[in-house]
Amino acid sequence: MASSRFFIENASQADGQVVTVKGWVYHKRSSGKVKFLVIRDGTGLMQSVFFKGDCGEEAFNDFEKLTQESSIELTGKLKKEPRSPGGYEMSVQSMKIVQVAEAFPISPKDHGVEFLMENRHLWVRSSKQWAALRVRAEIIRSIQEFFDNRGFIRFDAPILTPSACEGTSTLFSTQYFDDKAYLTQSGQLYGEVGAMAFGKVYVFGPTFRAEKSKTRKHLTEFWMVEPEVAFADLNDNMDLGEAFIEHIVQTVLAKRNEELKILERDLSKLESIRGPFPRISYDEAVKILERRGQGIPWGEDFGAPHETALGEEFGKPVFVHHMPAQIKAFYFKQSDTVGGDGVEGNGKYALGCDLIAPDGYGEIIGGGQREEKTSVLQRRIHEHGLNERDYSWYLDLRRYGTVPHSGFGLGVERTVAWLTGVEHVRETIPFPRMLNTIRP
Ligand code: 4AD
Ligand code: MG
Repeated sequence: MASSRFFIENASQADGQVVTVKGWVYHKRSSGKVKFLVIRDGTGLMQSVFFKGDCGEEAFNDFEKLTQESSIELTGKLKKEPRSPGGYEMSVQSMKIVQVAEAFPISPKDHGVEFLMENRHLWVRSSKQWAALRVRAEIIRSIQEFFDNRGFIRFDAPILTPSACEGTSTLFSTQYFDDKAYLTQSGQLYGEVGAMAFGKVYVFGPTFRAEKSKTRKHLTEFWMVEPEVAFADLNDNMDLGEAFIEHIVQTVLAKRNEELKILERDLSKLESIRGPFPRISYDEAVKILERRGQGIPWGEDFGAPHETALGEEFGKPVFVHHMPAQIKAFYFKQSDTVGGDGVEGNGKYALGCDLIAPDGYGEIIGGGQREEKTSVLQRRIHEHGLNERDYSWYLDLRRYGTVPHSGFGLGVERTVAWLTGVEHVRETIPFPRMLNTIRP
């Protein structure tokens, strides 16, 4: 400990020692002879105590100069103190002021969201934002851990691409020298290339959709992890998704408990997230919605109220499979019946599976089984008004050793929102991009 730099999150290993903490003034108060300062160093918060007899006259007086977010270095002795955030308190022996900060725009009082969003570059220092982003980082770590431990190869898809994956209505397009390119909506088609080369892969990166809707679940730039597995059908896909979600939730509970408490998340709700998750067909979902007074005509996609109702019905994540083919992308394998095994012509159902999170967080996973026949896929590309030239490489996967295969995409920000209990996805990524939001 002595030679390496001290961080607040490791305070328990330095109990009774004299250490230096480098950080920023979170808040302070004085009561005559004793002054208290909560310092944050990026890894946590710690209370420090200025007592003239211990810290000397200079530090005791310098305390008065400190403003919120002033940068300082405090040296002193640590001791256990349950009332200090993080459980340890420092009795200050000396202080170095790095900078007395100008008046910080974000004070402990309430601010409107618009103001906070304009000051996102400073807002991320606030404890709830800090906690949510620490949970985000842990989710990303646990995602990679899950796939790496299971022999999946990380297979990076390009961000600039000529191929639309999820329909043409939400594409961001850009000039690519003499050609046109899009920002990727999903790495899936490239993930399928990887599955045929490596057996099982995961694509992980930012994806882009020109979503004009202003909802609490939509960003125009979001991160998606997309596993893709050769010789896997729809049920294998749901098995994988289930184990995956359970791993993420239980890892975050174990490793980011303090952050979830800062966020006032109801932990008992997360503790109960264990497989198996219910699996219902779209047809069954429509019946449930009807019974709950949220009926929709067969063939329509679910909206937010329907997802919320399905979440309430089960109280845990629920898979909805076999959606109407008419509302799904071109690459889905189709069938005439629920449980059917593919059709040459156009089927009524797409072999898709979406996982809907409880508490109104909506669809966090979307995926399914892919069409593996060249001729069928070729026809669908035409039916969806896509240019075969841009998909010839994708069709090659069917020409050369095609196999049944499946995969899905998990939206990182929606997952962070669900696990942290944060209302809106804008607080689940450092710099959210939305309709009308491109700064900072
Ligand atoms: O259901 P989606 O559109 O599926 C795909 O893109 C497939 N190609 C994935 C695959 O099979 N490899 O999107 C997958 C997930 C959604 O369930 C949701 O969690 C998230 O991505 N998502 C968004 N998150 C934030 N903002 C948006 N605009 C999102 N659109 C989708
Ligand atoms: Mg979807």
